Amino acid sequence: MFRSRVAGVGSFLPEKVITNYDLEKMVETTHDWIVQRTGIERRHMVDENEGCSDMCVRAGNKALADAKMTVDQMDLLIVCTLTPDYKMPAVACIVQAKLGAKNIMSFDLNAACSGFVYGMFVADQFIKTGVYKNVMVIGAENLTRLLNYKDRDTCILFGDGAGCFIMSRAQENDPNYLMTVHAHAEGSLAELLWAKGGGTRYPFSQEMLDTGSHFMQMKGKEIFKNATRTMATACTEALNATNTRPEQIDWIVPHQANLRITEAVANQFDFPMDKIVSTVHETGNTSAASIPIAFDTAYRDGRIKRGQLILLTAFGAGLTSGSALLRF
Ligand code: UT7
Repeated sequence: MFRSRVAGVGSFLPEKVITNYDLEKMVETTHDWIVQRTGIERRHMVDENEGCSDMCVRAGNKALADAKMTVDQMDLLIVCTLTPDYKMPAVACIVQAKLGAKNIMSFDLNAACSGFVYGMFVADQFIKTGVYKNVMVIGAENLTRLLNYKDRDTCILFGDGAGCFIMSRAQENDPNYLMTVHAHAEGSLAELLWAKGGGTRYPFSQEMLDTGSHFMQMKGKEIFKNATRTMATACTEALNATNTRPEQIDWIVPHQANLRITEAVANQFDFPMDKIVSTVHETGNTSAASIPIAFDTAYRDGRIKRGQLILLTAFGAGLTSGSALLRF
């Protein structure tokens, strides 16, 4: 068995920004309410001529440059997303072509906001077993096109963006590697956060367009409770699997959904907030893209350094959850 390591990191946020003040003009809300309840100040929105695949390409190229690798060295491409360009084919195939990658296995993985941890888990299996050496794992979301800008419960929370890890086989003596990864789902709670219409169970209809059931719908309070519960459990799982104490960790990079959720998880472990990477004020919730965007932000501004011990944790629709502990 081999080990995998994170060889390169990259991310992309679209230029266009929607502030809380912009949202005040669309729904009955205020900047102060949004900041107090979520920590979000702004979020980014993809250009109208672009989509999920374009953001993937930008994040992917940055990660390749960071890894000092070229796209033809990649053996597998996984795009973790719930907002692909098309119903079919997978956006990963579009990204493969746009990146100019060779004829490699490319697929989408939908585990909602936990998608990136799921993607790392899958990449790790391919690398551990020696099937592939270099895997590009991208988390990318174009959530602003899944939102109802008349629904203040959801439209204030989400934004667009993409992030990427290049995961590669580690040398035998490399101290930096992915130590453990965990993933779960509680499907019985799926209706707490979903986009019911527009799939094959409830195909598009005029009624759907009139009622807006093709947009994301959420029971916020229930999601909040489950988020703190499942993220704390997933963190404990990663710590126990590696005999790690919370004080040994340099950074926690959680899924960026709501600052209050992050604080609740930090409290459970008595973990200082200044060792938790938070970008939610700038990005809102970018679902599967949020962990690699936050990670890349802290890596490029010098907070995250090579050799540090880093815990990732996520939860999302499904209800999915997961964690990963890595020596970066
Ligand atoms: O990746 C997973 C994605 N989902 C999440 O992470 C969401 C998790 N949930 C949350 O983050 C929080 O539940 C919310 C931020 C969505 C809501 O915060 P809350 O503290 O749970 O607020 P609430 O739903 O209890 O609403 C409190 C009040 C209500 O008014 P009343 O009944 O007290 O008069 C709401 O109607 O705030 C009202 N409200 C708003 N006011 C201004 C709800 N949404 C808004 C809004 N602006 N956007």
